[in-house]
Amino acid sequence: MLGTKVKEILNEQINKEFYSAYLYLAMSAHLSDMGLYGFSRWCEIQSREEIDHGMILVEYLLKHKEKIDLKNISSPQMNFSSPLEIFEQIYNHEREITRSIDSIAVKSDEECDFATRNFIDWYLKEQIEEEDHTLRIISKLKAFGSEKSSLYLMDKELGQREYHQSFYQ
Ligand code: FEO
Repeated sequence: MLGTKVKEILNEQINKEFYSAYLYLAMSAHLSDMGLYGFSRWCEIQSREEIDHGMILVEYLLKHKEKIDLKNISSPQMNFSSPLEIFEQIYNHEREITRSIDSIAVKSDEECDFATRNFIDWYLKEQIEEEDHTLRIISKLKAFGSEKSSLYLMDKELGQREYHQSFYQ
């Protein structure tokens, strides 16, 4: 059986993951409008991964015969500025998500819910990767992003990203 508070925050986390999907989709649309189709694709794929993250939480709760509480998903902002500002915003957003995942780990320990404590490690690793990827893109944008030819090459590079469904293992 899962911890009482743990169940609650896992349901809140489902909402945060689906909100993240909305946010990345809004960013993807904005970047597409700017003609940065590679950056746009990167964000669109990230949006799909966030849906996977939400679904893995849903499946985990269902497997443990717990109730799913699907809360309203807020609208994300729809206007953004430069790619650098967007990726800085992504980094700050992911830091928030990491703090949220950390709090699930802490709560699992407090409630002696070791199944969830073990499960949430997958998310902790995922957050390390997401923050690292985002920081690398920010570094490149800071180093070369002001040159149009460099931005073009970065756009091509990010456009190579492929979607692979995320699974909890
Ligand atoms: Fe599902 Fe970007 O964290």
